[in-house]
Amino acid sequence: MGEETLSVRDNRTGEEVEIPISDGTIRATDLRQLGLMSYDPAFLNTASTRSGITYIDGDAGILRYRGYPIEQLAEHASFLETAWLLFEGELPTREQLDAWEEEVRVHTYVHTNVTQFLDGFRHDAHPMGMLLGAIAALSTFYPDAKEIGDAESRRLQRVRLIAKFPTIAAWVFRHSRGLPYVFPRNDLGYIGNFVNMTFEIGGQHEPNPVLQRALEILLVLHADHEQNASTNAVRGVGSTQVDPFSAVSAGVAALYGPLHGGANEQVLRMLDEIGDVKNVPAFIEGVKKHERLLMGFGHRVYKNYDPRAKLIKRVADDVFAQTGVDPKLEIALELERIALEDDYFVSRKLYPNVDFYSGIIYRAMGYPTDYFTVLFALGRLPGWLAQWEEMLSDSEQKIARPRQVYTGYGERDFVPLANR
Ligand code: ACO
Repeated sequence: MGEETLSVRDNRTGEEVEIPISDGTIRATDLRQLGLMSYDPAFLNTASTRSGITYIDGDAGILRYRGYPIEQLAEHASFLETAWLLFEGELPTREQLDAWEEEVRVHTYVHTNVTQFLDGFRHDAHPMGMLLGAIAALSTFYPDAKEIGDAESRRLQRVRLIAKFPTIAAWVFRHSRGLPYVFPRNDLGYIGNFVNMTFEIGGQHEPNPVLQRALEILLVLHADHEQNASTNAVRGVGSTQVDPFSAVSAGVAALYGPLHGGANEQVLRMLDEIGDVKNVPAFIEGVKKHERLLMGFGHRVYKNYDPRAKLIKRVADDVFAQTGVDPKLEIALELERIALEDDYFVSRKLYPNVDFYSGIIYRAMGYPTDYFTVLFALGRLPGWLAQWEEMLSDSEQKIARPRQVYTGYGERDFVPLANR
């Protein structure tokens, strides 16, 4: 069989071109032969990269990291094991995993001056605002992070970010609560250390292994999601060859938005507002009139049940067995039940996404609503870094700089102030 092509005829000129099709995709640059650009606001049908990290089949509800189904990783893999898989492309051997965990452990400390940045925030500063400022500030502590052409330097920054992110995330939590900062403990694992730094009071914290494993599963589920908005931000900003701390802070900023990671916070606010199961039908009617969104529903890629949302429901059972059921769960289940039967949602293929149930679980674990997206960021960090690395080693990538269709004025002469 010959090469698959798309024939395009320009009816203005009669000119025809054959555009090669590869992986179900044509290159937008091939349209230059006809003097044309492609116009795709919000990238609805544009692949910005080739990637070997995460596979999603949105119609079938399939998610795999490096080929491994998310269901298997959620059941068997630790978060650091998942991060290694995303970075290296293969599951680590026992030896590799031990060495990786040890390397992360010895980099968990953060320069204490960072606590002064956090102290500068108001007591009611949003945790995501603090997180993004503190991560961006970290770049100034590691000038060597600018050496992005050096593979060993890139690896070191990756270790630093993975190791220090939980420390900063925990300190953000402590600042919100007016509690003294707790420093990392090298005798604890990645999750245990983070939980201890957030919840320790007076040197005491009784770890709950079930809740810690539940948190770890949630982080694994969030670890990567191909070219989502925050990853696109990390890649876009990283494409300018800035250091990874700055690129990752761009990812945190993108995640903060309510249409992306910030949705987990908004789901809880929505459930609080609905207040009672009896108010669900009226709320759904408002959504159908486009008065508001049903937060935690819908996805650019999934046109089927988000596989992560399915797994999260199982995690919720484990968590609620420990903490008791949050009454908000009843409202969420009723919203889902009605939405999945209603033509508005069915015809638009709107299903619960990862954020729909995660917030209720985080709340049961003791995290305040405005902190939920920080947990999402902690989970997504390995994905941002793996995608950043992949972008830098991809010879086809350049500075991400889209074109535009200009719709403004043609040339006109400046009018002096006195004449306007
Ligand atoms: N509630 C009600 N209607 C919705 C919702 C929703 N949550 N999501 C989409 N729709 C409707 C849109 O109004 C539109 O209807 P129309 O065709 O009558 O105009 C149709 O479904 C298609 O939606 P789009 O906005 O075109 O879909 P898009 O792919 O651009 O947006 C998004 C995806 C941003 C996730 C959207 O579904 C949304 O805003 N959801 C709520 C916020 C949310 O949960 N975000 C988290 C996403 S997952 C994540 O980032 C981890």
